[in-house]
Amino acid sequence: MSALPREPSAGLALDDVQALLDRQTAVLELIAGAAPLADVLTEILTSLEDLMGGGRCSVLLLDRERGTLHHGAAPSLPEAYVAAIDGLAVGDGEGSCGTAAATNAPVVAVDVLTDARWPRYRALATDAGLRSCWSTPIDGRDGLPVGTFAVYHPLPHAPTERDQALVDRFTHLASVAIDHARLIEERRARLEAETARRTAEELSHAKSELLAAVGHEARTPIQAIVGFAELLGTIDLDEARRREALGHIGAAAGHVMDLLSDVLDLSRLEANALPLRLEPVLVPEVVAEAYALLAARAEQRRVVLGSACGDVVVLADRRRLRQVVLNLVANAIRHGHPGGRVEVRAAGGPDRTVLVTVADDGPGIPTELVDRIFSPYARGVPAPGRTAVDALDEGAQEESIGLGLGLAHGLVSAMGGDLRVGATGSAGTTMEFRLPDGAGVGP
Ligand SMILES: Nc1ncnc2c1ncn2[C@@H]1O[C@H](COP(=O)(O)OP(=O)(O)OP(=O)(O)O)[C@@H](O)[C@H]1O
Ligand SMILES: [Mg+2]
Repeated sequence: MSALPREPSAGLALDDVQALLDRQTAVLELIAGAAPLADVLTEILTSLEDLMGGGRCSVLLLDRERGTLHHGAAPSLPEAYVAAIDGLAVGDGEGSCGTAAATNAPVVAVDVLTDARWPRYRALATDAGLRSCWSTPIDGRDGLPVGTFAVYHPLPHAPTERDQALVDRFTHLASVAIDHARLIEERRARLEAETARRTAEELSHAKSELLAAVGHEARTPIQAIVGFAELLGTIDLDEARRREALGHIGAAAGHVMDLLSDVLDLSRLEANALPLRLEPVLVPEVVAEAYALLAARAEQRRVVLGSACGDVVVLADRRRLRQVVLNLVANAIRHGHPGGRVEVRAAGGPDRTVLVTVADDGPGIPTELVDRIFSPYARGVPAPGRTAVDALDEGAQEESIGLGLGLAHGLVSAMGGDLRVGATGSAGTTMEFRLPDGAGVGP
C-alpha cells in the first residue's frame, strides 16, 4: 500500500474538506460493493474534476511485464486521445505519464508545447485541446507504480497547493481501488485454477474408470471368442455344435464391436468431431426401425411396444436419432418389468420444438443414479444378481455397460436438443427429449 498522503486538510478550505470526505465515502462504498475497477476510477476522476474545476483527469494502468500504460478511466477526455495513448510506453520522454511511471516521481508539464518530454505527443494533445499535463505515479502494495494519475488543462497550468492536496488524496484512493481490484482478480484466478485442476482430476479419474470398465466388459466376450475358436479346432466336432460355436463367436464379436463404437462415438462427441447430417426426419419411421431391431428382445421379456407419433417431423441426423431411440427403448425394455409396456410418443412443443417421450411401467431409475445418469463415465449399476457371464449366457447383446444414456444425451445435444429424465419412480420412467421441429424445413 502506498504511504499515506500528506495531511488531507493542507491547502484545503473547510468546505473542500467536507466535500472531499463526501466524495471519498462514495468511492469507498463503491470499492466495498465490489464495483468494477473502471466504475470506481471514473467516480474518483469525476469527483476530482468537480472539486478542482477546469481540469480533466485520467488514470492509466501499468502493465509491468510489457512496460506499457493502458486506459483505466478518463471520463472527460476526447475518445480519440484516450485511444491514441492506450499502450503508451514507459520511459523518459514518453509524455508526462510515461516519464512519471519510469521515474516513479510526479511530472509537471506546464506547457506541453515547450516541454522536453512531449515532442512526440504534441500534435495529439493540441488536437484534443490539451495544453498542460501533470502526472503522478500511483503506488502499489510493493511501493512501485501500478499506474499514473494525470490532470490536463486547456491552457498552460502549474498545480496550486490546493490542486496538489486534492490530487494526493485521490491518487491514494486510486491506489486503494487498484490494489483491491488486483486482490480480487488474484483470488478469482486462484479459484479458477483450483476448479480447473479438480475438474481435470475428476475427468482423468472417470476416464481411468471407463477404461477399466471397457477393458473388463470386453474381456468376457473375447474369452468366449477364444474358447469357441479353440473348440472349432477340434477335429471331431459335429455340425450342430460347430454352428452353435460360430453363433457364440458372432454374438460375442458383435458385442465387442458395439462397445467399441459406443466408446468411439463418445470420444468424438467430446471432441465435437461427430459428423452430423441434419435433415427433416419422420419420427414414426425412426421408431418403427428401432422397434424392428428390438422386437426379439422385447418378445424375450414379453414387453409390449406401443407408439403414438402421428406424422411428427424433427430436424435431426436420421442414423443418430435412431441410435437415441434405440438406447432409450432398449433401456425401457431391459430395465423395465418383464411383461410390461413401453410407449413412445411425439408431439409438437413450444418455440418450434418437438417433444419425444419414451415411457415404461418399470421399477424406476435407482435413486442414487438419477443425478449422474447422463455422465458417460458414470457406470450404471448392473441389474442385481446378474454378472457379465450370466448376461453373456442370455445373449451378449443383453449386457449392460452404462454408456447408453451418456451417448444418447451427447447425441441429442449435438443435434441442438436436450434429453432429460421426465419422471421416474415406482410407477415407471419417462425419458424425454426435445429437438427442433423439422416440418417445413427444406429436404
Ligand atoms: N427406463 C429405465 N428404468 C430404470 N432404470 C433405468 C432406465 N434407463 C436407465 N436406467 C438405469 O440407468 C443406468 C444407465 O443406463 P445406460 O443406458 O446409460 O446404461 P445401461 O443400459 O446400463 O448399459 P448400455 O451401455 O448397454 O446402455 C442403467 O444401468 C439402469 O440402472
Ligand atoms: Mg442402456
